[in-house]
Amino acid sequence: MKGAGLFINYACQSIHKKGAFYVALSGGSTPKALYCLLSGDNYKKKIDWKNVHFFWGDERTVCQDHAQSNYGMANEVLLKKLDLPQSNIHRIEGEKGEKAAHIYSLELTEIIKHKNNDVPIFDLIILGMGSDGHTASLFPGTKTLFEMDKLVDYLYVEKLDSYRITITPPLIKTASNILILVSGKEKAHILKEVQEEKTLLNKYPVSIANECEGNVVWLIDKAASE
Ligand code: 6PG
Repeated sequence: MKGAGLFINYACQSIHKKGAFYVALSGGSTPKALYCLLSGDNYKKKIDWKNVHFFWGDERTVCQDHAQSNYGMANEVLLKKLDLPQSNIHRIEGEKGEKAAHIYSLELTEIIKHKNNDVPIFDLIILGMGSDGHTASLFPGTKTLFEMDKLVDYLYVEKLDSYRITITPPLIKTASNILILVSGKEKAHILKEVQEEKTLLNKYPVSIANECEGNVVWLIDKAASE
């Protein structure tokens, strides 16, 4: 898969340059397929995982072993198969609810290098896209889409009747690399609209990709591209 090769390239570049690679993972079935590949024989030995720091773009308000935990999914298919210290894993403690957003924001700020404007710069953020155009836990019509100050937000998502914790636009826009993984034919019409019309943030949050300063790569499967 192209995504696994790109992940390894970004990691090698960052590790070569500064000795570490800061990546934010996403939930979802499409990103999960990438994590499975990375822990397989073809890719696992290509980098020294001790130099990789794992963060998350979003989390559900559940504990780490819950079936819906984004951390839990990544841990199952990737992290527990790698040789890396526990201190390299920076999960969002979803079970702590609103407090988790604050704790995570402090952790990000402490560990990842800042730009002048104080926004930490991820080397890579991996994003998925839901069939409503959401990405991370930035959902259509939510205030979080226009957040300028907080790096991490705790929000109620009406259509899911549940709370989520998510990184906000300033962090996404500042990342060095963004990899967006999209699969499924039900998403094809959104991709077309987002590519044609650049300012659809409130309708399709994934269009934040059009506002990013860094390198943005879309990996779209055949069904979603038709
Ligand atoms: C989440 C995700 C979310 C996800 C997309 C795509 O936890 O809900 O982080 O943004 O990546 O919904 O998911 P699929 O690849 O399963 O469609």
